Formats: sequence, C-alpha cells, structure tokens
Amino acid sequence: MKTITLDIEKTRGMVTKEHIVAQESKAQECNALLHSGKGAGSDFLGWVHLPSSITEDSLVEIERAAIQLRKKCKIVVVIGIGGSYLGARAVLEAVNNSFDLLQTEREDPVILYAGQNIGEDYLFELSAVLKGKQFGLINISKSGTTTEPAIAFRILKKQLEEAVGKEEARTRIIAVTDARRGALRTLATQEGYTTFVIPDNVGGRFSVLTPVGLLPIAVAGVSVRDLVKGAADMEKATATGVPFAQNLAAIYAVVRNELYLRGKKIEILANFHPKLHYIAEWWKQLYGESEGKEGKGIFPASVDLTTDLHSMGQWIQDGERSIFETVISVESPSHKVVVPSDANDLDGLNYLAGRRVDEVNKMAELGTCMAHVEGNAPNIKITLPEISPYYIGQLFYFFEKACGISGYMLGVNPFDQPGVETYKKNMFTLLKKPGY
Ligand code: PA5
Repeated sequence: MKTITLDIEKTRGMVTKEHIVAQESKAQECNALLHSGKGAGSDFLGWVHLPSSITEDSLVEIERAAIQLRKKCKIVVVIGIGGSYLGARAVLEAVNNSFDLLQTEREDPVILYAGQNIGEDYLFELSAVLKGKQFGLINISKSGTTTEPAIAFRILKKQLEEAVGKEEARTRIIAVTDARRGALRTLATQEGYTTFVIPDNVGGRFSVLTPVGLLPIAVAGVSVRDLVKGAADMEKATATGVPFAQNLAAIYAVVRNELYLRGKKIEILANFHPKLHYIAEWWKQLYGESEGKEGKGIFPASVDLTTDLHSMGQWIQDGERSIFETVISVESPSHKVVVPSDANDLDGLNYLAGRRVDEVNKMAELGTCMAHVEGNAPNIKITLPEISPYYIGQLFYFFEKACGISGYMLGVNPFDQPGVETYKKNMFTLLKKPGY
C-alpha cells in the first residue's frame, strides 16, 4: 500500500532546513509526551493508540448494528454536532457519489444529518421529508447534554414513535454516548436502545475512529475496516521510534509552527476536489478547538478550489500576507472524463480536446500553487494517492497526530475547549434554563 506524502519545499522561502532542524528535538519530545501521557490533557489521549487497538469483536458489533438499521431503514438521520458528526460526514461526502441523494436505485440508506444547527426551517424541512419514509436515528453525543442534538432528537424521536409505534421505534434508534454519564445514557437505558460507548479518554474531535464515526460510516455501506487500517498504518508511521525525517506528522507540526512564528497566522486548507469539503470542516474543528486558546493559535480556514479562486482567490493572492496554504492533492481520481472535440470550437477549447479533466485540474493546482507562493503565501502539499477509506484513515490519523504535537509545541493543552462554554452560558441564561 502507498502512503500519503508531505511536500514542504514551497515553504522554503520562509522556513529553512536550519529552522526545521532546530525544532526537531522539541517535536520529538512532544510526540513522546503524547505516547507517555505526561503532557497537558493526558486524560484525553485514548486516540493515540486507538486505530491499532480496535478489536475484531468491536468491528463486528458495529457492522451487525449497521446491518440491522440498513434492513429497516431507507433513511438514517445521524444526529450530532462538532466531533460527534464531522468525521462521519467527512468520510461519506468524500467516498460517496457526489449526487448520492439523487440515486434512486440504491442498496444503501440515504444518510441525512441533524443536530448540527438549531435552524427551525432545517428541522421543519427534514421532518417533512421523513414523513411516510422508513427512517431510523443514530443519536451521538458524548456529554449527552448538548442542546443542538438534544432538540433534534426530541423532535425526530417523537415523529418516529408516532409513525411506527414506540416498540418499533426502539429498534430503529441507536445511541452513541458515554458509558455511564449524561442524559442520553439515562434515556437510552430507560428506552432500551442499542448503544455504543465513546471512551472517556477520547475527546469529540478525536473520536472519528470510535463508534461516533464508524457506526454511521458502516450504516452507509462504506468499509470501516479500510478506514481503520489506514489509520493504524499511519499510527505506526508516526510512532515515537520513527526518525523525525520520516515522521510526516512531526514535520507538518514543525513547519506550521515555524510559519506561525513568522507571522503566518492563518492556515488555509485547500482542495481541488469538492468531495473533500467536509474533510476540511473536520480539520477546522480539530485544529481550531485544539490550538485556539490563551490568545494563541493559527486560524484554520478552508477553500474549495478552483471554485473559490473565483471568490477568495483575490484575497489569497493579494490580501494581507498573514496566510499560508496547505493543499490536499489527489494523485488519481476514481473516474475518467475527457474533454470532447467540437467542430466549431466557438469556446476555443479544442486545444484541450482528448485530454482528461483531471489534467486541467492538476495544471490549475500547479498554477495556483506557483502564483500563491510567488505572492508570499507559502505552500504545504499533502498528496493522497486516491480518495478512498484507507487513505482517509491515514489522513485522519496524520492530522490528529500532527495536531497533538503542534499544540504541545505551541504551549497549549490541545485536548480541552474551555472557550466553547461561553456562548452556552449566555444562551442558557437568555433562555432562562433552570440554574442559569
Ligand atoms: O470536540 C469536542 O469535544 C466538541 O466539538 C464536541 O464534539 C461537540 O461539542 C459535541 O459534543 P457532544 O458529543 O458532547 O454532544
């Protein structure tokens, strides 16, 4: 199997070999802290060895539950927010057909999402679309008390019970939550739902390889085994004994920290395949919540290219020079489309006739990279051999490991998120929640 690759050559104008060498031992120490559990936030390091410790039994259990839900449901609504939703969506949007929702002849259930916002129209329209359909719910919340998914679940559970009766509804609801604590655990026990546990020592944004991500992915008919295998291979490739020069996660962590120290406060994750949009959403949560604290941290932003070259391209090329770009490049697309020849050539495209669309995309990628580097936006390139569960597994673990190392190098606890409580307190006070 190939591995994802990392190219930092286009950061050389700002980050020299000497800069990197100077940070090597610090990065290695930070990696070692993740393994020894002696760093900040050490209660939340369960993700470090997670891929290699997922047992055959636990995969079988997830696959069994997925089969049950698939048998009964044409639509499965995944309810969750933040780390309890982004990983599964990132995988499914990346590997499924881009027009999945329009496919009429299908074996796999349609996956829809709820609880990731409090939009009344969103919930109304979702509820309307579910009327008369065979649907089920996967309710995911580690704390079991998050307002957004709790509201969505209350509404959709009621709808499901009214549609098929309480007994049947019970068989179409799966809860993924803490082993003991939280309102969702209490409710699941009381109602007799099938449940899966989110380990105590794995925080939300690092939980994609727990049942939080694996169950919805399995229900959608995507191979969780390939995903886990990819992550486990990257776990090995970024372990403590691996020399710095071969540890992609450590190198990425060093380079982005060096860029940050030199005034590059914003990292833009760019893709040239719209399927990767939610990978960037997952990445933004991972880095935003892990590093943005104590008045520090790179701001993680993202663009879909070439789409956003026609909106954000001007800013990236010419705006304040506080950015660097990390491009996720894909070596081989899964399908082949060739530009046809046209007798009249009114659009002047015949010079491309017979060439693959991917060749045009690759040249757009290269041209964009050259332009941005020239415009003083250094460029890091991460290449996936192809978009598949295996390589996404590698990518997930690569980003997680780099995030842990990078957060320690920055001097923050990458595993807490005290800042997200402030809006909640205000909202609860305004809503007159008892106790606020
Ligand atoms: O990373 C995190 O911990 C958060 O983004 C959570 O995933 C998010 O707030 C959802 O929390 P919960 O799973 O407790 O509902």
